Amino acid sequence: MSNWRVEAAAPARADEVAAIERAAFGAASWGEDSVRQGLKAPYVVSLLAYRGDDPAPKGFLMWRRLGEEAEILTLGVISDSRRRGGADALLEAALAQAVGEGVRSMFLEVEAGNEAARALYAKHGFAQVGERRGYYKNGADALVLRKTLAVLPSAESA
Ligand SMILES: CC(C)(COP(=O)(O)OP(=O)(O)OC[C@H]1O[C@@H](n2cnc3c(N)ncnc32)[C@H](O)[C@@H]1OP(=O)(O)O)[C@@H](O)C(=O)NCCC(=O)NCCS
Repeated sequence: MSNWRVEAAAPARADEVAAIERAAFGAASWGEDSVRQGLKAPYVVSLLAYRGDDPAPKGFLMWRRLGEEAEILTLGVISDSRRRGGADALLEAALAQAVGEGVRSMFLEVEAGNEAARALYAKHGFAQVGERRGYYKNGADALVLRKTLAVLPSAESA
């Protein structure tokens, strides 16, 4: 859906990001301190998603650039705003930023049983390249996914 607006989240928005993270992940939340550290960490980009004119953000995403590779660190949408295209908008924004910065591969980890997230990433062209057994606190396995990104002509000739 097109009525989403995605904006960079400055470290000063840490309270809002932490609140959305907690609401989206519940028991699996990183916790406020980790979110704050993530917002300030080098090479980490944090995005907030807003719907229509509502000033309250409904979703967030954090990704980190590591040279020509990058990773989606976390992504979530609060439950009463799901299935309306917010995650699509956040992921598209992050992938466009990454392409603009010359990133060639975007990686992420997703819990094997997280059907919603797996469908989201499949829709956006991510494919499984690995597996980490017992990766999560609850003992669940993680799948490692990768998407190869288009190279902009300017980056190709640089
Ligand atoms: C996964 C999550 C981010 C999806 O957010 P969302 O805003 O509801 O997703 P969107 O509405 O943008 O949907 C985009 C695509 O994701 C997939 N999808 C999203 N929710 C889904 C669900 N419940 N079941 C199946 N597919 C789903 C679909 O492919 C969908 O595309 P479509 O609408 O064309 O079918 C959200 O459910 C969430 O925050 N979950 C808790 C946190 C989490 O698991 N984060 C991912 C960690 S790796």
